[in-house]
Amino acid sequence: MKNKMLAVPMNLGANKAGIEFGPEVLEEYYPDTFGEMTYIDVEKQRENFNEPNLKYKNTILHTCNKLAEATNEAVRDGFRPITIGGDHSIALGSISGVSLEKEIGVIWIDAHGDMNTDESTISGNIHGMPLAALLGAGDRDLVNCFYEGAKIDPKNVIILGARDLDVKEREVIEELGVKVIHYDDVMHKGLDHILDEIKDYLKIDNLHISFDVDSIDPEHAPGVSTPVRLGFSPEDMFKTFKFLFKNYSISSVDIVEYNPVNDKNGKTMDFVNELTEFVLNPTV
Ligand code: ARG
Ligand code: MN
Ligand code: MN
Ligand code: MN
Repeated sequence: MKNKMLAVPMNLGANKAGIEFGPEVLEEYYPDTFGEMTYIDVEKQRENFNEPNLKYKNTILHTCNKLAEATNEAVRDGFRPITIGGDHSIALGSISGVSLEKEIGVIWIDAHGDMNTDESTISGNIHGMPLAALLGAGDRDLVNCFYEGAKIDPKNVIILGARDLDVKEREVIEELGVKVIHYDDVMHKGLDHILDEIKDYLKIDNLHISFDVDSIDPEHAPGVSTPVRLGFSPEDMFKTFKFLFKNYSISSVDIVEYNPVNDKNGKTMDFVNELTEFVLNPTV
């Protein structure tokens, strides 16, 4: 399948400087991989700062709507949209655009759950909320991004690699009935066993991969905004991607939260480049 690469230099969902430079740094160092990206600009909107639980909601929503249009058009034209972030709030847009065309499952590979609502959030940062919004929970405007209502069914979703869930976020996860495979489980059972478990659980043809770089151990990928100790090795992640491309029809992919400001010796960008190369040209 042909790929359509989209770049979204968004940092407002994380409310931290640095992530917005991700796409241009990748493009500068690896023009062969990232040279053909279409940029979705982040146009600042008038904000309502009386909503401290939904920081920069208007600008994030405006950007996600534009991104959704772009991923939707890509799918209709027969392309696989690959969205390069930017922070994870943009998955609200990328997934909404694809889900209008086909029923998709989602594997959310992340140290976090991104399952907060405007009521459960501690930080008010929207990159901690996109998965809940896609499932229909939380702020109505976020839920109604691109088109009204929930975009995905909880039974078709797995959060893989979680090792930092907020207390109230856990309640949202439980209420919606989303399956979480904690990083602890990966350590105890081993990755092969976990991949079998995914295959048994996710009975859907079309799968979207939403990959947050902070799912990787910060020893290997320090260039993120919200690092959490432990996590996947790069080898484990290549194995996981191979498995996913072999067993599912991959409709679309996000690669988000790369923050060049926190990188060390280019470790993180090398990894992001290699993973993106695999996604563009998967060999299974
Ligand atoms: N749970 C925290 C929050 O809601 C951290 C979220 C981090 N999300 C991410 N996409 N890196 O603020
Ligand atoms: Mn506009
Ligand atoms: Mn995330
Ligand atoms: Mn994360």
